[in-house]
Amino acid sequence: MATAVPTTSHAVPFDPESIRGDFPILQTRLHATDGNSGVPLVYLDNAATTQRPRQVIQSLVDVYEKHYANVHRGIHWLSDQSTDLYEEAREKTRVFINAAAREEVIFSYGTTEGINLVARSWGDANVKAGDEILLSEMEHHANLVPWFQLAERTGCKVRHLPITDDGQLVLDALPKMLTDRTKLVAVTAVSNVLGTINPLPEIIRQAHAAGAKVLVDAAQSVPHMRTDVQALDCDFLAFSGHKMLGPSGVGILYGKRELLDAMPPFLGGGSMIRRVRLDGFESADLPAKFEAGTPPIVPAIGLGAAIDYLNQVGLDAIHAQETLLTLKAHEVLEGLDAGVRFLGPEPAKKAGIVSFTMKTMHAHDIAQLLDRAGVAVRAGHHCTMPLHKRLGVTASARASFYFYNTTAEVETFGRALGEALRIFKRK
Ligand code: ALA
Repeated sequence: MATAVPTTSHAVPFDPESIRGDFPILQTRLHATDGNSGVPLVYLDNAATTQRPRQVIQSLVDVYEKHYANVHRGIHWLSDQSTDLYEEAREKTRVFINAAAREEVIFSYGTTEGINLVARSWGDANVKAGDEILLSEMEHHANLVPWFQLAERTGCKVRHLPITDDGQLVLDALPKMLTDRTKLVAVTAVSNVLGTINPLPEIIRQAHAAGAKVLVDAAQSVPHMRTDVQALDCDFLAFSGHKMLGPSGVGILYGKRELLDAMPPFLGGGSMIRRVRLDGFESADLPAKFEAGTPPIVPAIGLGAAIDYLNQVGLDAIHAQETLLTLKAHEVLEGLDAGVRFLGPEPAKKAGIVSFTMKTMHAHDIAQLLDRAGVAVRAGHHCTMPLHKRLGVTASARASFYFYNTTAEVETFGRALGEALRIFKRK
């Protein structure tokens, strides 16, 4: 019943070639024609979703072939097997983010659901007209819309910490924006567009001093750098499995136990109850209280296998490799004569995300022409319309890296952009 793990552990510096063989999809060649075997896939859309190693894929096959039944329900052997694996995945996740207790680790369907859970459950119970929720100008729609919806329900006010033109939070504005009306600060750890790594410890310290709780959107940080929720002292933190080698359809909401204990359930149904009568119900204890219905059993077990894999590679090696790729991407883009504008700060201040615009080509043209060369990037507003408006652009192209990407792939990306510019000029 042990989940498969890779056999090697990598120290910094890390050689991605040593693990690329674990990822079947990275061997893909595309655009093959008669007499032409196509071009290799260069997958640079990791902020949208990552790829899976065989070890994770095999863990899913193993569950379905040998251990699958519903969890926490059956009084039978197979259900016990499945429940053990599901709870083992919760424990692996707890250790990965250093939560104090398993009750603080809630399986959700993804970051979006985790944030919605807090907005609905904690928000409706604790926020009233006149209160304030403080976000930032760089938030993903998933960390904006649930708070706008809370404002519609309660009459609270949503405010935004400003950013600089190079995509960093204006921290000096924080003391003034934190008032006795501020109930919550909800902020991203790493911007999915700018790549900016935000100064969470300072934000959390100031927010707590002002009596506000803090929610961290960690979708772009937990997969890439060490996360210690106890050291951070955040109140809530949400992330997704599919951005860290795991399956889609599973995420985690971390919450401090005393807060989760006091919160009403979010979704109602089976599993989240202790007792149901014809005239009402009593909620189950944590974590079941927030896991109504059949949970994402197999995706959660796959997430456990993904965590095993990430631990073997090591978060320090992962972060170092992504820093190298980000530096290289800046270098390559700066070398193009195309009026490149980077969205976000200098490489030293960001994670493996490089968003940019070009004077001569629209972001969608960039992505389409790169695709011809096998290079997958994202183009558009990346679920951050207000951020793009703040930066004065409607769309950007984004290359985003994971530790399995190589500097040679970044060079291919640069050459493909050069070719795209030539094609575009000819049009
Ligand atoms: N939030 C994901 C992205 O930034 C989907 O692409």
